[in-house]
Amino acid sequence: RALLHNDLQGDEVLVVSNREPYIHEKTPNGIVVKRPASGLVTAVEPVMRACSGTWVAHGSGSADRDVVDANDVVMVPPDHPTYSLKRVWLTREEEEGYYYGFANEGLWPLCHIAHVRPVFRVSDWEYYKEVNRRFADKVIASARTDDPVILVQDYHFALLPQLIREKLPRATIITFWHIPWPNPESFGICPWRAELLRGMLGSSILGFHTRFHCKNFIDTVDRYLETRIEHEHSTITLDGRETLIKNYPISIHWPDEQEESAWPETEECRRMLRRNFNLSDSHLVAIGVDRFDYTKGILERANAVERMLEKHPDMIGKFSLIQIAAPSRSSLDEYRYFQERLSRRVEEINRRFGRDNYQPFILLAEHQGSEILTRYYRGADACIVTSLHDGMNLVSKEFIACRNDMQGVLILSQFAGAAGELPEALIVNPYHVEETADALYQALTMPEAEQRERIRSLRATVRERNVYRWAGFMLQDAAHARRRERIEARL
Ligand code: F6P
Repeated sequence: RALLHNDLQGDEVLVVSNREPYIHEKTPNGIVVKRPASGLVTAVEPVMRACSGTWVAHGSGSADRDVVDANDVVMVPPDHPTYSLKRVWLTREEEEGYYYGFANEGLWPLCHIAHVRPVFRVSDWEYYKEVNRRFADKVIASARTDDPVILVQDYHFALLPQLIREKLPRATIITFWHIPWPNPESFGICPWRAELLRGMLGSSILGFHTRFHCKNFIDTVDRYLETRIEHEHSTITLDGRETLIKNYPISIHWPDEQEESAWPETEECRRMLRRNFNLSDSHLVAIGVDRFDYTKGILERANAVERMLEKHPDMIGKFSLIQIAAPSRSSLDEYRYFQERLSRRVEEINRRFGRDNYQPFILLAEHQGSEILTRYYRGADACIVTSLHDGMNLVSKEFIACRNDMQGVLILSQFAGAAGELPEALIVNPYHVEETADALYQALTMPEAEQRERIRSLRATVRERNVYRWAGFMLQDAAHARRRERIEARL
């Protein structure tokens, strides 16, 4: 955290993302504040707490407008206000076109290559451009200086860096792309590929999770735009402006001793988790925690559970996967089809192997808060992440952070960015049912000493590569760029 303060040295910081870190909802008992199921918020929120400033986001809660002051600002977090949250209020049509349409029916499947055909409607593109313009106006109006540090988050805002740059040429704009970047052939099907790339190159720094995504991005620019690319320094110069393209693997806030001391003992978590689902104390449990999204490989996970039970019938009645799937983007057809398909598949598996009160696949289509999730992670024998493609995946890192008892096994997809950093997990190809089923069985039968050895090593990695390091490295690079620009301006 000290890194952040050193590098910022009193600079003004603005974050802009679609998703807000706190959603205010109206309920019969008054206004309640919810945290969304979002990897972006999990990572960026602790950084904002540490460096204060302003977060600009889309206002999405039913009571969001009721809690703002005369300047349209609310201070957050509610229990310990440290930074201001400003909202852009979108109309239903804008949200449909920009968020559901272009961002989530176009860019999301385009970048994940999840075999869902991207949809590019001209009307969605028009809304995407319009909403990017509206966010640019809000950010520019919120800036008090002419050279703030602006942290632009994700694929909802590919055009924002250039729009901000036109009005605030001296700003340091750090854009982080939270999802994968595909190869040039795949990206090239987007009718507005050049506009998106130009927009992103308004950034001073453009960050991705992995070096592989950076390389794909540079190759894409090379294919579709006239620029100067310096591979040695990983920079792209367009119209005389240089952008650094670099990987910054995102992470989580590593819990301190005080936070850990508030956690119930693992034995208590084990009992609670099993009691909640009417399972015996010795029942083997794997946990899956995802947004209910077709990129997360939940169907492949169900197939692996089925195959594992076929191969090891002694596990029938003794093992269950508890799958928390937080409903997400449910108004989109592809999400609804996927949710229905998975529910049917789970019913088939439970009909085949279930009996009395026993279900091998317990599917909970609901969002769970971090306190409950901490208990579930601590109480499970294994955590399973089988994304078909994922920028990073923070569930894997959260599971590791919760296991200070040095037990528990992580099964992790080789197609999640996290796999590169966490080789001591059981790494699987989720499309390979046999391999995933075997890894599940291996996890459930792994000797305690081996679990300890693996998790100890994983914990050392995540503790060191925490989210402050992620933000600190970006800000360090930004500080260098600022110093250089100031020197050049004086020459
Ligand atoms: O991890 C990718 C991501 O789009 C995040 O950027 C986002 O916060 C998360 O998925 C949840 O998606 P949404 O904000 O659309 O609910």
